[in-house]
Amino acid sequence: MIIKDTEFVLKDGRKALLRSPKDEDIRGVLDYLYVSAGETEFILRYPEECGKYTYEGEKALFDRINASENEAMLVCIVDGKVAGNCQIAWKTGLKTRHRASVAIALLKEFWNLGIGTRMFEEMIRIAEANENLIQMELEFVEDNTRARALYEKMGFRITGINPNAIRLRDGTLLNEYCMIREIRR
Ligand SMILES: CC(C)(COP(=O)(O)OP(=O)(O)OC[C@H]1O[C@@H](n2cnc3c(N)ncnc32)[C@H](O)[C@@H]1OP(=O)(O)O)[C@@H](O)C(=O)NCCC(=O)NCCS
Repeated sequence: MIIKDTEFVLKDGRKALLRSPKDEDIRGVLDYLYVSAGETEFILRYPEECGKYTYEGEKALFDRINASENEAMLVCIVDGKVAGNCQIAWKTGLKTRHRASVAIALLKEFWNLGIGTRMFEEMIRIAEANENLIQMELEFVEDNTRARALYEKMGFRITGINPNAIRLRDGTLLNEYCMIREIRR
C-alpha cells in the first residue's frame, strides 16, 4: 500500500521525509542494504550477500509492496539520502490475518535521531487502521539494546526466545528474542 508523505524534524534539527519507496530511491536503497549490513551484527545479512539485490529486483519489490493491501514499506530520506527503511506485513489466511510482522534498519549515521520512533508511530497507525489486526510482532538479536529500548518504548514486550537463532561467521551463537505489541483501538 502507498503511505502518504510525512515530514518531521530529527533530534539534530534536520528535516526528514517518510514515504513509500519510489524508483528514484532504488540506488539509495541498494547502497543502504550493503552499507548497513557491514555496520552491525544485528542485521541478518553480511555485505557479501547483497549481490543478489539488483535494480530490477528492488523495483519489482517496491511495485509489489506499493500495490499490496497487506504490506507497506517506508523509506526515510534525509538530505536527499536514503537513511533506512521499515516494513509492515500481515498474513491473509483466516487463522493468521490478525498478526502483523514489522522490521526496521537504518544506516549508522542516522541512529539515535528519532527516525525509528517516527517509523514505529507510522507502522502502529497503519496497523490500527486494519480492523483484523490484533497484534504486531518482531524479533531482535540479543544485546541489541538500542533496538530493544525503542521497541519497549513503543509498547512491545518480550514473549519468547529462539536459542542460537543466529550464527556469526566466527561461530558465535546468538539468541533471538520475540516481542509483540497488542493493538489498542
Ligand atoms: C534499532 C534502530 C532501528 C533504532 O532506530 P533509531 O532511529 O536509532 O531510534 P530512535 O532514535 O528513535 O530511538 C532510540 C531510543 O533508544 C535509546 N537508546 C539508544 N541507545 C540505547 C542503549 N544502548 N540502551 C538503551 N537505550 C538506548 C535512545 O535514547 C532513544 O530513546 P529516546 O527517544 O526515548 O531518547 C536503529 O538504531 C538501527 O537501525 N540499528 C541497526 C539495525 C538494527 O538493529 N535494526 C533492528 C533489528 S531488530
